[in-house]
Amino acid sequence: MTPFASGDLLERLSSEVRECTLCALSQTRKNVVAGEGPRSPDIMFIGEAPGRHEDSVGKPFIGSAGRILDAALSKAGIDRSGVFITNVVKCRPPNNRRPTSQERLACRGHLERQMLILSPKIICILGSTAYHSLLGGKSIVADRGKIVKRDGIRFFLTVHPASVIYNKSLLTDLENDMLSLAAEVRDGRRLDKKTTTRRNRKQPPPRKIGSK
Ligand code: URA
Repeated sequence: MTPFASGDLLERLSSEVRECTLCALSQTRKNVVAGEGPRSPDIMFIGEAPGRHEDSVGKPFIGSAGRILDAALSKAGIDRSGVFITNVVKCRPPNNRRPTSQERLACRGHLERQMLILSPKIICILGSTAYHSLLGGKSIVADRGKIVKRDGIRFFLTVHPASVIYNKSLLTDLENDMLSLAAEVRDGRRLDKKTTTRRNRKQPPPRKIGSK
């Protein structure tokens, strides 16, 4: 790939998403929240939809759910600035209601293009809306911690950080899942490196997930 290709595509897609009027959420939004992160991340996180703070600023997961996510990432040694974070729908549903199936469908093309351009090592599904939208899954609480492979893409399942606000016992689950996700990415890197090591015996010290 040329050095500018994925960045250009991502920037072009983000501009298109910012202009999107495919569903009625475009009439009530303040800002489109296309997503945030580097162009070739190890991990891509997919939540449900922007909330009030995200809508005001145009960035994903910066309110109370974002603070919970940040803390879980940090505990697991995952650098937020090294991962890509987005949502199933890019505009805030009024009163933070769950996005309808029509809204999710309207936004589907944007999300699929993001997944294709970013081509992360693993996609972390945050909560039941993303689980149902992307994999047709029913219970994220029952399936959390699992890895599902679909069409050559690896998905890691965990609970939505906002669910922790209403059910404190899910915090341990979220934190443990982030540790497993970090280990999964590190193991993948180790396997990648084994091939390189045969040619180059020098090994750099272990790095935080997200730092390239
Ligand atoms: N909840 C989400 O699903 N996404 C955000 O960006 C913020 C809260």
